[in-house]
Amino acid sequence: MQSPADRDVIVREVGPRDGLQLVKETLPTDTKLNWIKAEAEAGMIEFEVCSFVPPHIIPQFADARAVAGRALEEVPGIRVMALSPNIKGAEIAFEAGVHVMNYVLSVSKTHNEANVRRSREQSILDFAEIVKIRNADPKLKDIKIGVGLATALGCTLEGDVPEQETLKVLEEVLEAGADEVLLPDTVGYAHPTQVRSLFMKAIDLAGDVPIITHFHDTRGLGLANVYAALEAGAKHFDASLAGLGGCPFAPGATGNIVMEDLVFLLESEGLRTGVDIEKLRAARDIVEASLPGEPKHGRILKAGLPKGFEPASKLMAAE
Ligand code: COA
Ligand code: ZN
Repeated sequence: MQSPADRDVIVREVGPRDGLQLVKETLPTDTKLNWIKAEAEAGMIEFEVCSFVPPHIIPQFADARAVAGRALEEVPGIRVMALSPNIKGAEIAFEAGVHVMNYVLSVSKTHNEANVRRSREQSILDFAEIVKIRNADPKLKDIKIGVGLATALGCTLEGDVPEQETLKVLEEVLEAGADEVLLPDTVGYAHPTQVRSLFMKAIDLAGDVPIITHFHDTRGLGLANVYAALEAGAKHFDASLAGLGGCPFAPGATGNIVMEDLVFLLESEGLRTGVDIEKLRAARDIVEASLPGEPKHGRILKAGLPKGFEPASKLMAAE
């Protein structure tokens, strides 16, 4: 397996978390693990594997502790991330020993109330508290704390989310000690010019703290937005195998951008992802077989790679 240093960009599989949030069927723990293992075989090194939420809110994640524990144990070499929407979830994630705990709060105040039942201000205070809990315990020192600023680029409840508002919340979470920050387009409202502008400013503001993209393809601009973020200097990109996904508390939400197509875009641009597109097929087969009722998206594995296509990862590995 290649190390992160051999990659120009990092793609992050969020399907086992974001991808499953809206799915009606509950995937068995073994199937989730088989999916993660198959994708790790293809070279994927970062996975958001679950959410630590109350099971009555999202039953799909009732096995979250088992999934995180087994991913840590059974899939060596990957970075195991888990989402936690509150202090209690963060404590469970710390106990599980994940590599990255991803907190979530929303720039849109209305979405924050709908999603986590707190004011945005309270969520930011809770975030600062979580960082303190991690910092106070030497056993937790290696755990990274990420935070997703949901609706950073638009909200189905409030509509437009001003760039200044997102940058203000970004400053607050950086101040509180975030190790990495996602700027998700939760409901697929963003367009490339907006993305380029926000990411340029956010990357500038964040210094060494990575600013991560997380696009939903609800209105078909997902990959165009990836390209705009690339131009702005982004290096980390979330996506979901077969484009599963969506926030259950954001009306009209649909899937993430498709992982297979994202890898194709990046490799075509000469950027090494370390992920073998053809090998993603084995993981996709698992998802197809286990979620027959869900819409699956993606062009590249359907159409096939262009004749003679040489991915950047392969060309550079051979040098
Ligand atoms: N994991 C497991 N149990 C939890 C928990 C967590 N992260 N957070 C709270 N609980 C339990 C509490 O212990 C309490 O249990 P009890 O009734 O047996 O005492 C119960 O759930 C209610 O706790 P409370 O703190 O009042 O939570 P809440 O009802 O205000 O809900 C959230 C707050 C954040 C837990 C809830 O809104 C949520 O899970 N939202 C999901 C957001 C999400 O995942 N969105 C999609 C991704 S962006
Ligand atoms: Zn999402």
